[in-house]
Amino acid sequence: MARKKLSKFAELVTLPHLLEKPVGQAGRWPQPLVLELGCGYGEYTLALAQRQPQCHYVGMDIQGERLWRGAKAMQALKLENVWWLRGYIDHLLDYFAPGEVAEIWLTFPDPFAREGHAKKRLTAPRFLDYYKTILVPGGRVHLKTDSANLVAYSIETIQTSGGMIDEHIPVAPIDIMTRFEQKHRQRGDQIQQLSWHWPTIQPI
Ligand SMILES: C[S@@+](CC[C@H](N)C(=O)[O-])C[C@H]1O[C@@H](n2cnc3c(N)ncnc32)[C@H](O)[C@@H]1O
Repeated sequence: MARKKLSKFAELVTLPHLLEKPVGQAGRWPQPLVLELGCGYGEYTLALAQRQPQCHYVGMDIQGERLWRGAKAMQALKLENVWWLRGYIDHLLDYFAPGEVAEIWLTFPDPFAREGHAKKRLTAPRFLDYYKTILVPGGRVHLKTDSANLVAYSIETIQTSGGMIDEHIPVAPIDIMTRFEQKHRQRGDQIQQLSWHWPTIQPI
């Protein structure tokens, strides 16, 4: 591993708001809590945390180097309401208790375009079950993506899981810009946004 990367990894464990696979934290998060999954460099989480200082935010990703950048930016901005969680989204239920999360953001998740890889998409039935479990009753999930295929797939899996689509914006306006959104916009890709929740009383 390059020396620069190694020193970032060494510093990673010393950063107070950076949690490495924090089993034992479930049920102990400050409230209200908003979660960004696959946050990358954390631009979205940081911008939300600045807008709403009374809320608490967790940016989750498996790539330590990206979280390191988010954590350093957080220090520069003097924010206290953000945590960075290094772990696999596949293990979400180890880190959050049922009903502990108010809102979830999926910002430009890997689209896994090949049908054979559909199970890895962050809106595959397995992941929707995790979200349904950790969300407060009626809590919303938001997806931003450049992938029309992922949107079509997600609408299907959300509805099959009993979810209700609150909003589908086919051409999302420019707002908080993440690294990947910037890349897609420069290429002229259309950005879509989808928001949904699971009603507490399921329709008969
Ligand atoms: C395409 S990038 C998008 C990053 C950021 N949201 C953005 O818009 O710039 C997807 C991110 O999800 C993370 N990721 C993908 N699968 C993951 C998983 N199973 N667990 C944790 N992080 C994951 C990757 O490490 C990567 O940083």
